[in-house]
Amino acid sequence: MAKRIFQKPRGTRDIWGEDRKYFQLLRDTFENVAEEAGFLKIDTPSFEDTKLFVRGVGKETDIVGKEMYTFKDKSGNSLTLRPEGTAPVVRAYLEDGMQSLPQPVSLYYFSNFFRYERPQAGRYREFWQFGLEVLGDKSPLVDANVIATVSRIYKKLNIQNTSIQINSMGCPACRPKYIKLLKKFYAGKVTKLCADCKKRYKTNPLRLLDCKNDKCLALQSEAPQIINNLCSTCHEHFKTVLEYVDELDILYELNPKVVRGFDYYTGTVFEIWNVSDGAQNSLGGGGRYDELIQTLGGPSVPAVGFGGGVERTIEEMKKEEVGLDFPKNVNIFVAQLGSKARKKCFKLLNDLLDAGIGAEARFDKGGIGDQLKIASKLGVGYTLLIGQREAFDGTVIIKDMASGNQEVFPYEKVVKVISKRLKST
Ligand code: HAM
Repeated sequence: MAKRIFQKPRGTRDIWGEDRKYFQLLRDTFENVAEEAGFLKIDTPSFEDTKLFVRGVGKETDIVGKEMYTFKDKSGNSLTLRPEGTAPVVRAYLEDGMQSLPQPVSLYYFSNFFRYERPQAGRYREFWQFGLEVLGDKSPLVDANVIATVSRIYKKLNIQNTSIQINSMGCPACRPKYIKLLKKFYAGKVTKLCADCKKRYKTNPLRLLDCKNDKCLALQSEAPQIINNLCSTCHEHFKTVLEYVDELDILYELNPKVVRGFDYYTGTVFEIWNVSDGAQNSLGGGGRYDELIQTLGGPSVPAVGFGGGVERTIEEMKKEEVGLDFPKNVNIFVAQLGSKARKKCFKLLNDLLDAGIGAEARFDKGGIGDQLKIASKLGVGYTLLIGQREAFDGTVIIKDMASGNQEVFPYEKVVKVISKRLKST
């Protein structure tokens, strides 16, 4: 019987090669922007008590209803692989006593998350997010500042084709009234909705507004809008957020369809949409969640945050061809001919690495031709060659791979010469 190799679980990815470089570039850019703005890094566990998400994200949401990886450990505790990062950060804020720090507490993370979704382009079962959370300040300025920080991240990444979509989801004072109005509007039209929205009408009517099904799209444009039904506090807060964002010349659109798929949002919500090729998928999203800390057993603490999708952002970076000039870590190949030369090359390779110069060799290859082919494939600038003669003389040939020129140097001088040449390129 033919041997079968193992395959990764559906919806997961190996990150290596070019993808890994984009991943690192995004991670470094995000972390620099967050650190410079005074955010502190937090890593939370990959799994948490299941109830944290059921209570925090909401029973009726798609995530809790259909998408969680939940399991019992050997002691019978119900645990869930984190499907998102906000509830765990709130848990840490409360459990680790961050309320005693000067408020607000600004945290950031770059972590993997797990959702049992139908895998497709840009949708995975294990994916990564870069996230920001600011806990302990109710000022609209903080909402605007999170939007500004997010906008700065995409700017630093040189991503152009994005659009910030902003809405307000109201608060416990005005949202129930709006939902009543929304249900009244849809009451005679339920038969015209898609199967999912027929359920949403009963369980989560706000989600009727962001369904992408053609049947439902037509009705959405006639539905009452929440921004026309906000209470005076929410209205004033939202107006001020927009005024602050306007101060920074950040382009955005007001979009009543941005309702987010979690129960914890209150007030300002926003999404970053990818608008290249007419696509409208969400690169990231966030908003205020002033009730979540109380829902999770804490005191009343206002908060606002954002989560950006790493895979989707990398796809956009590739599409827009940003970040193609990755610095080369290895620019030297060391090649040898004969057993005496091999020993010298082994030492040369390590001398180069000790001096902080990236270099590679292939000691299982005997022929110079084979080794030069590998050096070209690696795209190095220089190959350092030691053959039988050089091993005997105590010299090294430096071959410039672009011009093909070869020069001979005493072994002791080679590291210095190469270091100088690499600095001047
Ligand atoms: P979210 O909208 O569920 O928000 O996820 C944020 C981003 O993560 C999405 O816009 C998308 O780019 C990416 N994403 C989500 N699911 C997948 C998937 N299955 N495959 C690939 N990428 C995905 C949250 O998670 C909130 N916790 C964000 C937040 C932070 N709100 C306040 N603070």
